[in-house]
Amino acid sequence: AEIDKLRFSLLTWYDANHRVLPWRRTPHSRRTAPSPAGPHESEHPAPASLDTQQFAYHVWVSEIMLQQTQVTTVLPYFARWVARWPTVAALAAADMEELRHAWAGLGYYRRAKYLLDGARHVMENLGGRFPETAAGLMGIPGVGPYTSAAIGSIAFNDKAAVVDGNVIRVLARLRALPGDPQRLMPTCSELAKQALHPERPGDFNQAVMELGATVCRPKNPDCGACPANHCCKAYTEWKAHCKKHGLPK
Ligand code: ADE
Repeated sequence: AEIDKLRFSLLTWYDANHRVLPWRRTPHSRRTAPSPAGPHESEHPAPASLDTQQFAYHVWVSEIMLQQTQVTTVLPYFARWVARWPTVAALAAADMEELRHAWAGLGYYRRAKYLLDGARHVMENLGGRFPETAAGLMGIPGVGPYTSAAIGSIAFNDKAAVVDGNVIRVLARLRALPGDPQRLMPTCSELAKQALHPERPGDFNQAVMELGATVCRPKNPDCGACPANHCCKAYTEWKAHCKKHGLPK
């Protein structure tokens, strides 16, 4: 059906086009049968062999950093952070002054405090291990619906759909839903749940976020390069509009 086509198109596109980032591991499909290096950037070798808990720590730190900050800005901060505090145990033993120093320039300092409180919570109340579901992760300070779904799906393959600003924009365009993004949250949340790939929820979530960041941009979306343009209602309407008014696409 339509939703299967969308799911397949997005994952195929993601596998071929995703940015290789230091907090990403090899996609699930390739983990058992490593393929030769794909057409990716290679400055940030993917930590393919990370222990799952260690990987969850990286995903958590990166998702908190990425909440209000772009990927290119986050890269050096993330590298310094995990070099200085390589584990959740190391982070829990840090003091806030050091964290503030490491965070300088990223903005929204409350996020650094969340990481410290979160690390201490994991050490003191969870035996030093991240819970393996989005629902379980919700108890960590600073981890809300978005972050818990991101960590749960990416690190533990939990079937939780992420819904952030990018995801809402992508899904709203696919269905040509009018109105402001805040009000579209419930509808898009439902859509995201339906579309989520049951075997590869983490890659699927990242595919939608990645599409929103690189192709389905807020301004000047690159619809010609979009793997989902064949089933995008906004694109169909735009093409019809161009045709009617004799505009080039
Ligand atoms: N933005 C925030 N987290 C992301 C992720 N894991 N992949 C792509 N874009 C993101």
